[in-house]
Amino acid sequence: MPSPGAPTVPPPADPSAPSGTWDPRPSAEELAGLDAACFTAALDAAAYRHWLAQPYVRCWALRDGAGTAVGWAVCQRVADEAEVLRLGVHPDRQGRGWGRALVRGMLERLDARRVVLDVRAGNAAALALYRSAGFVETGRRRDYYTHPREDAVLMAWALDPGGSAAASR
Ligand SMILES: CC(C)(COP(=O)(O)OP(=O)(O)OC[C@H]1O[C@@H](n2cnc3c(N)ncnc32)[C@H](O)[C@@H]1OP(=O)(O)O)[C@@H](O)C(=O)NCCC(=O)NCCS
Repeated sequence: MPSPGAPTVPPPADPSAPSGTWDPRPSAEELAGLDAACFTAALDAAAYRHWLAQPYVRCWALRDGAGTAVGWAVCQRVADEAEVLRLGVHPDRQGRGWGRALVRGMLERLDARRVVLDVRAGNAAALALYRSAGFVETGRRRDYYTHPREDAVLMAWALDPGGSAAASR
């Protein structure tokens, strides 16, 4: 069994996972709608318009067969490192593999050597999702979040020099 953090070969994609369609140009209004459904401290359309106008920001909506946006991810990529700024799956569609598909597809599309993010310490679903996708905890920021006040868990995912994920599933 490899030691924690040792390079492993990523397993094949789960054929039962939802595939969806990746939309690289969702509207700010649609993203704000998803955000409001997922987060109490939601970002509005103006915040998304600002992000979408940034040259280093990449954003996708993941759509189902009917064209409905099920989830979304917003990332910032500079050189070969990326940061996940926002990610979620609509509450009506959670628990069916969309989150896993979203993170896997996002990592493929970012094509970065290292991807970092922070997540609320009490967000068990997101922590489990990111861990299962190969992210490892790199630190904590005390009382980083407000409404409610909560620590941030810092996580990172990295490719090994051979090009495979340092940990994956
Ligand atoms: C976190 C989130 C994206 C997961 O999406 P999802 O579609 O429900 O996730 P999936 O069904 O693909 O599940 C993938 C893995 O996530 C973890 N997970 C998902 N829901 C979970 C829950 N309620 N409790 C614990 N782990 C959970 C599990 O590891 C799961 O793998 P398993 O099914 O093999 O156990 C979703 O809960 C969400 O959008 N939450 C609100 C927004 C948010 O917190 N975004 C992340 C902020 S950093």
